[in-house]
Amino acid sequence: MSQRTSSLPTIVSGKNALKTFQTWLRKNAPEQTVILCDSNTLQHCWPVLLQHVPQLSSAALIETDPGESSKSLEIAAYIWQTLTEQAATRKTLLINLGGGMITDLGGFCAALYKRGIPFVHIPTSLLAMVDAGVGGKTAIDFMAVKNLIGTFSNPVSTIIDPVFLKTLPAREWLCGEAEVYKIAAVANASLWRTLTKKGFSPELIEKAVRTKQRIVKKDPYEKNSRQCLNFGHTIGHALESAKQGTLLHGEAIAIGMYIETELAAQLKLITREWCVEMQQALMWRFDTVLQPIDGEALRHFLVHDKKNQKHKLVFALPAQPGHCHINVVATPTQIQKAIAAYNKCMK
Ligand code: GLY
Repeated sequence: MSQRTSSLPTIVSGKNALKTFQTWLRKNAPEQTVILCDSNTLQHCWPVLLQHVPQLSSAALIETDPGESSKSLEIAAYIWQTLTEQAATRKTLLINLGGGMITDLGGFCAALYKRGIPFVHIPTSLLAMVDAGVGGKTAIDFMAVKNLIGTFSNPVSTIIDPVFLKTLPAREWLCGEAEVYKIAAVANASLWRTLTKKGFSPELIEKAVRTKQRIVKKDPYEKNSRQCLNFGHTIGHALESAKQGTLLHGEAIAIGMYIETELAAQLKLITREWCVEMQQALMWRFDTVLQPIDGEALRHFLVHDKKNQKHKLVFALPAQPGHCHINVVATPTQIQKAIAAYNKCMK
């Protein structure tokens, strides 16, 4: 089986997604299938997958620890070693069953093993369904910097089935919502209006995914417009690295969005009204996550952000609703001023 023989759409989403995948697997029977999961998805999601796709019962399993710390060179080496021990070939299909950590790590390992083997993402968290599992980004962390080593490599397909959300912990759920708010704020004003009027509901997954797909299709390698999806991520990634795993990705992004909205207002890139509307919406939904932060602790990690150009700190900041400014340079003083304003609001 190769990626070319696939007749699966890039994204299969909805209540019958696993059924569609099962039918495809039956027709395209891969030579060998390996499932990558973490101990949480092994316990909660693997039985669900097996129930819907019983022919996977003979697949080999590779299990990692849950959490960002598994996105490491050591764990990648362990996965490559296990694939080698299983005599995996270029026709082996790797199924990444998990949240953003598993889709990033599994995609990375599949992209490099034997110069690339086919892989399918089955995201089990809301965050991986709407963001990490869509658009072909893969990565591991390196020297404590998030996603420092990675590739753009597309899965055969991403299978988004809401059945997995039944066991998703509330904290993880909120992380996924943060990415939905991000996509809406910078790329879909009507989705933003729905979120602020009615709140998030699983029916909005499809809308968020289609919006992200539209962005990725236009700029798959993030040369220009795709950078809008980095809104909240310059501060967010630095914060996540500085907090050494105590803050989840989506939590850091919620804080990052609040501060970067403040920065956009201070740089006069958005009106104060839109700034206040966005910050109120973020405060309303992410009040349990927003907390004062130590701006000084972020300095080192901000310097290593992949988006930086010629040692300048670069941001994707909101413009009018549903639009974004990319390649915005901000000075360390401007950033610290925005963080200080945020910290004041959190008192
Ligand atoms: N997570 C942002 C992107 O996929 O571009």
